[in-house]
Amino acid sequence: MASLAERFGIELPLVQAPMAGATTPELVAAVSNAGGLGSLGAGYTEPQAILDQAARVRALTDRPFALNLFVLPDDFAPDMAAVARARERLDALMEREGLAARSTVPARWAPRYSEQFAALCEARPALASFAFGLPTPAQMQELRRRDIRVIGTATTAAEARAWAEHGADAVCVQGAEAGGHRGGFLHAGETPLVGLFALVPLAVQAVAASGRGIPVIAAGGIMDGAGMLAAEVLGAAASQLGTAFLACPESSATAAWKHDLASAEDHRIATIRSFSGRAARGLRNRYVEAMEDAADELPPYPVLNALTAPLRRAAAAAGRADLISEWCGQAAALARPQPAAELVARLMHEYRLARRALAH
Ligand SMILES: Cc1cc2nc3c(=O)[nH]c(=O)nc-3n(C[C@H](O)[C@H](O)[C@H](O)COP(=O)(O)O)c2cc1C
Repeated sequence: MASLAERFGIELPLVQAPMAGATTPELVAAVSNAGGLGSLGAGYTEPQAILDQAARVRALTDRPFALNLFVLPDDFAPDMAAVARARERLDALMEREGLAARSTVPARWAPRYSEQFAALCEARPALASFAFGLPTPAQMQELRRRDIRVIGTATTAAEARAWAEHGADAVCVQGAEAGGHRGGFLHAGETPLVGLFALVPLAVQAVAASGRGIPVIAAGGIMDGAGMLAAEVLGAAASQLGTAFLACPESSATAAWKHDLASAEDHRIATIRSFSGRAARGLRNRYVEAMEDAADELPPYPVLNALTAPLRRAAAAAGRADLISEWCGQAAALARPQPAAELVARLMHEYRLARRALAH
């Protein structure tokens, strides 16, 4: 399997995960400057801001970086009775918790994907990565025409194969351990939670069966150099780390969220639907427990995500991390808060030590 260095000119087998709402141009550029692949999570970002943030990354680095989008329809027509019920629940919770904010029905439930895609094309990063779905064949062609390489997100072997057959240049497999939203798209009504030890070799085999030997990138619970080497031994060309970089000063996660990562017990890190309407891994905090019994009636993504935004904003402003979506992977407590460039150097040092230890 070709290395990322050969394919994309990235020195190290290390990708900083795109994290919508938490990655900053400073974080992305620091990782790319250090020889890894920095990724800007732009799933929640309006088109003009995508252009502005990409320009800021460019001002900070001339190395390759990735821009990440969620593949979604442009418009949503939710059941408004379900919206009203959810708003009642959320408003009652805000009242109980002493937050002055109230839910609103926004003009749009999420930024329009087609407009975000056009901004991505204009920004022309070296790589584009996608979660929640496949771009259309015409969009894949457009990316190729602009020489933008594509990384697809897969949560199962079938999704890895689908990306390979769709023309992706690499596939990032997201194990069950991974923090943030599940990026899958093929298994409607299910939330596959395949562990990374099973998923990497299965995906390598599925990609090979497609006849396209594209690199497989491993994501989920990897926090140190030994984990990166383990992923490589299983057949991955590189590792993608999210939670490890969330703790960096360059990430825009709130101080209270970063603080909670250090003491996050593995058994309290769960798959949660009640913040956004889509399964995502994070801390089971006070909000999650308060909404537990409503989980099945709440509207789907991105409607619920928009409805909970005022609560999350007000809670963040009040320093109440127990009411915000504290996304993190299962090994969050292993995060080492330090500047991103130092973390990259440390990870690579550990990776080389682990490699040497394995050779003896
Ligand atoms: C706070 C947070 C936000 C995330 N947002 C995105 C995103 O916008 N796009 C995406 O493809 N993956 C996103 N992910 C998932 C990561 O790409 C990756 O799968 C995950 O971080 C790997 O697991 P780890 O956090 O244990 O390292 C996010 C993860 C976290 C922790």
